[in-house]
Amino acid sequence: MAVETFLSGNERYFGDDDIIVSKTDLKGRLTYANKIFLDISGYQEKEVLGQPHSLIRHPEMPRCIFKLLWNTLEQGKEIFAYVNNRSKNGDNYWVYAHVTPSWDKSGKIVGYHSNRRVPDRDILDQHIIPLYKDLVAKEKSTANRKDGMHLAETMLNDLLVEKQVAYDEFIATVGQRRRRGYR
Ligand SMILES: Cc1cc2nc3c(=O)[nH]c(=O)nc-3n(C[C@H](O)[C@H](O)[C@H](O)COP(=O)(O)O)c2cc1C
Repeated sequence: MAVETFLSGNERYFGDDDIIVSKTDLKGRLTYANKIFLDISGYQEKEVLGQPHSLIRHPEMPRCIFKLLWNTLEQGKEIFAYVNNRSKNGDNYWVYAHVTPSWDKSGKIVGYHSNRRVPDRDILDQHIIPLYKDLVAKEKSTANRKDGMHLAETMLNDLLVEKQVAYDEFIATVGQRRRRGYR
């Protein structure tokens, strides 16, 4: 599905106590979206149900983050990620997302589920936005999409090796040392 790319330059925000919830089938097509999801994305329920989650994909999100997300989910594992989303009118909104498979009683994955909270603004500004900018630049540095993805994945892996952490630990701890330093 073609992703809308018009951007208004306006950022949307949601409340600290709000949780944006959606559920999908195995292919990532939406089967449920709560009111907060609909309010912030600017879509009506009938416009999102049955649509791929890339309906709200922001064009400046690195492709390698979604590849990691899907690889992790398909292994039956949960993942946390900072995600920039695009509202219907071209506004954007950042979320801190937890995405997890849903299982039936026999242990088979039957769909996926995501809860999103307000991200820490300092972590976004100081770590995630610069990192994503670099990853997107790598992805676009060659005309070959596969090569670009590989370059971005290598950059992310190099960062994790340098920090001696796995991706999930990186996401859980990014910005923490600096925050502790203020106390
Ligand atoms: C439960 C679940 C929640 C997702 N939430 C988002 C989301 O909020 N924003 C987003 O852009 N992609 C989300 N995705 C990933 C999309 O399925 C898709 O991989 C991504 O938008 C990139 O689209 P593309 O691969 O067509 O470029 C989610 C996937 C799942 C399974």
